[in-house]
Amino acid sequence: MSNKKRIGVLTSGGDCSGLNTAIQAVVCSALNRGWDVFGIYNAADGLFSRPMHYKQFTYTDFDFPYARLGGTMLGTNNSGNPNQQIASDGSIEELTDEQLIKRFHDGIKELNLDALIVIGGDGSMAIVSKFCHQAGIGMIGIPKTIDNDAPATEKAIGFATARDIVMEALDRLDTTATSHQRVMIIEVMGRGAGHLALEGAIAGMADICLIPEIPYTYENVLKKLREVRASGRSHSLMVVAEGIKTPEGKHSYATNGRTFTGIAHYFADRLSQEPDKFNVRANILGHVQRGGSPTAQDRLLASAFAVHAIDLLAKGMTNRMVVYQKGDITDIDLKEMLRIAHTPVNPNGTMVHVARGLGMYVGE
Ligand code: F6P
Repeated sequence: MSNKKRIGVLTSGGDCSGLNTAIQAVVCSALNRGWDVFGIYNAADGLFSRPMHYKQFTYTDFDFPYARLGGTMLGTNNSGNPNQQIASDGSIEELTDEQLIKRFHDGIKELNLDALIVIGGDGSMAIVSKFCHQAGIGMIGIPKTIDNDAPATEKAIGFATARDIVMEALDRLDTTATSHQRVMIIEVMGRGAGHLALEGAIAGMADICLIPEIPYTYENVLKKLREVRASGRSHSLMVVAEGIKTPEGKHSYATNGRTFTGIAHYFADRLSQEPDKFNVRANILGHVQRGGSPTAQDRLLASAFAVHAIDLLAKGMTNRMVVYQKGDITDIDLKEMLRIAHTPVNPNGTMVHVARGLGMYVGE
């Protein structure tokens, strides 16, 4: 039997920097082995839609420097609801679960794929892996998320770039904060995880960092701001992870009711009313954290994950997720990955210790 393979690759879940680097690395290392590679558009929707939405890759697709840019040349989807597809005339097509399974299966058959590489978060990997299982096709997962909470891997594509963006935002905010003697609050993404906030806060030298994993008190936030002022410094930097709750225990949701946003304004409003007359401003960094060129660290990780994924397929292995553990690239069983919960910040871990060592208030 020929060792030549036909593989598909797609990106799934929220985008981030480094996805195009991963796509190019998957495609080129597969083409270098003489394999055929098909890019599936808009996550698995490219297989659900009729006509199907895909392309066969050649080296010339990368004459344009996609891999140096943010976003994903294949498009993506994080709605978690593949049952609603946009038909070719623009109308919304409602598909039953059975119809979805059949379309996925037929799509894989029509392209005659041996395996699918899914560059995604754990949520979207879970969804696509079910379809792969039902269609009898092997899958390899490559983890990406700016939240850096993917199970079993210490690093995921997109985190390093997003962390640099948080750091740079703090650098910029520091100069204006000092000019106006302000308390500058910045809200960063991360959903239920505080990695981005905490590591961004350390690199960006913040005074306070509140993350979902560690409880805090409003009184101690206030105390820290007063201490900074008493030390002779007239401005402060405060990082809040979007997923923290108010001291009253409430999440701050965006109008879509699904994503978090706005906790920075809660603190700005409340702190402004204190007798200390703090001059407070709130900044929501938002989707800026997901854009821009990937840093060298994300390019290296994306390239190493992709080459490892192709190596696994060459060895005939599927249903694995590539991971970064203890300084090396390895892989774990996909089912095992799906069983492991998210990886939150360890309240007793190194980063929290470093932050506290620097005098940052990170909660109780
Ligand atoms: O999971 C990545 C992430 O950027 C989170 O940090 C954030 O809460 C969410 O996605 C935003 O999702 P959306 O792109 O749907 O607004």
